[in-house]
Amino acid sequence: MVDEPEAALRAEREEHLTREVEASFEATPDERLRAVMQALTRHLHAFAREVRLTAPEWEAAIAFLTRAGSITDDRRQEFILLSDVLGLSMLTVGMNAPVTAEATESTVFGPFFVNGSPEIALGDDIAEGVPGRPCHVAGRVTSTTGAPIAGARVEVWGADEDGFYDVQYEGDLVQARAHLFTDGDGRYDFWTVQPAAYPIPHDGPVGDLLAATRRSHMRPAHIHFMVSAPEHATLITHIFVAGDEWLDRDAVFGVTESLVIDFAQHDRGEAPGRMIDGPWSSARFDIVLAPREGAESRP
Ligand code: BEZ
Ligand code: FE
Repeated sequence: MVDEPEAALRAEREEHLTREVEASFEATPDERLRAVMQALTRHLHAFAREVRLTAPEWEAAIAFLTRAGSITDDRRQEFILLSDVLGLSMLTVGMNAPVTAEATESTVFGPFFVNGSPEIALGDDIAEGVPGRPCHVAGRVTSTTGAPIAGARVEVWGADEDGFYDVQYEGDLVQARAHLFTDGDGRYDFWTVQPAAYPIPHDGPVGDLLAATRRSHMRPAHIHFMVSAPEHATLITHIFVAGDEWLDRDAVFGVTESLVIDFAQHDRGEAPGRMIDGPWSSARFDIVLAPREGAESRP
């Protein structure tokens, strides 16, 4: 048992250290940087004190971060993944999204967006040979007043039926990703493949953390969207497939109810713009963009 005067002395020394570190940032000219670093100091110290962090645990944490750094390159970002599985990405998205009840909700950006996707015409197929059930996605982009937004840029990207994005394969594949522009009435539509649930990259330290804490590394089936238009806040979001078994266990906490959409299943036959010789699916996703107030929803 620790006697009381000893415990009080220890607490006093710990608090003194926290105050000293906080004060060391006092001369920071950038006000925001000063506030962030001082709050970080307070919370980090409070965390270490709450769990009574041991030296071996501190070493394990440093080893974890070192591994995250070594596995990170221009195709793999383990630190973003860590932020995702801790819910920090989704928290940041929520705090920075426009607070307009009518606007479509945002969700995590994820690591698989690629700049410079091909442009397609309305109704085109973005699958480019990706195996999977053909899936037609259509909707309308409007502002919160209900006015259609013509010429909105709609970026879409998704995984194949095995749960992999094109960038996860060797080579320079460009599949299941493209951008298109809404017509004069704000309408868009494209073909892709029915999305499947897939694991986030889990062969690194973040995967080990999920395994050690018995957490799932799965994401429910989804298609990514990034929608932008002049005078409007850029929306980064997904649509999720209603009924997916992982909806309530998304490894990165990205699911919100309003983004869960029915994907209707159809038999072979006539489909929008084509005849299909097997089963296909369709989803409707109407998108409402908030007015721009300098707020964007990344990460
Ligand atoms: C994704 O949906 O692409 C994703 C998001 C967060 C972490 C890993 C993958
Ligand atoms: Fe994804």
